[in-house]
Amino acid sequence: MIDTLLQTLLAYLVGSVMGGQIVGRLRGGVDLRTQGSGNLGATNALRTQGAGFALAVLAIDVIKGVVACVLIPALPTLGEPLLARAQQAYLCGVAVALGHCYPPTAGFRGGKGVATLAGAFGALMGAALPWMLAGFALVVMLTGYVSLATMVAALLALFYVTCLSAPGLFSDAGAFTLAMVVLIVWTHRDNLKRLAAGREHRFEKAMVLRR
Ligand code: G3P
Repeated sequence: MIDTLLQTLLAYLVGSVMGGQIVGRLRGGVDLRTQGSGNLGATNALRTQGAGFALAVLAIDVIKGVVACVLIPALPTLGEPLLARAQQAYLCGVAVALGHCYPPTAGFRGGKGVATLAGAFGALMGAALPWMLAGFALVVMLTGYVSLATMVAALLALFYVTCLSAPGLFSDAGAFTLAMVVLIVWTHRDNLKRLAAGREHRFEKAMVLRR
């Protein structure tokens, strides 16, 4: 029990290490929360600071998803673990995403979970990742909306786990995916309002399939 709690807490703390804050400090105190969409993630970094800054944010945020789902569940335990390692890995995936979205280090106002969940999905359900990335790229290239592409990628993960994977929706992978789709839709609620109102930020240059 104690191992489960400690590993889950550790994953949450790893999630709360914000790439946007680290790179912002290294760049002389840039605060992404006061610019663009106000989000601490790579999309807002790209929008307001450029590709180099955004790539660094993306790398940190993806890596912490992988670390939380691969390294933390593999740590030595004090006693007999409550959960199997695979189950602990899914729990750490939830915790790292929550840490990223609601970090105590940034007043519980973090990112939207996208890059960190990409790392977590890559570590936990690698076979779903090509579907998610292909859907993401297609929507960005058609519409220029990263937020819409993110939600489509999350739904494709749900499609994958429901229709294309052996354990199906009623499994640890299914529960993890369902919870993460709910989280992604929740963290993108302002984006959804802007999309509905036709006011969402758009990356015009990315719309290579609409020229
Ligand atoms: O990375 C999150 C993305 O889906 C939306 O970000 O800054 O456009 O709200 P943003």
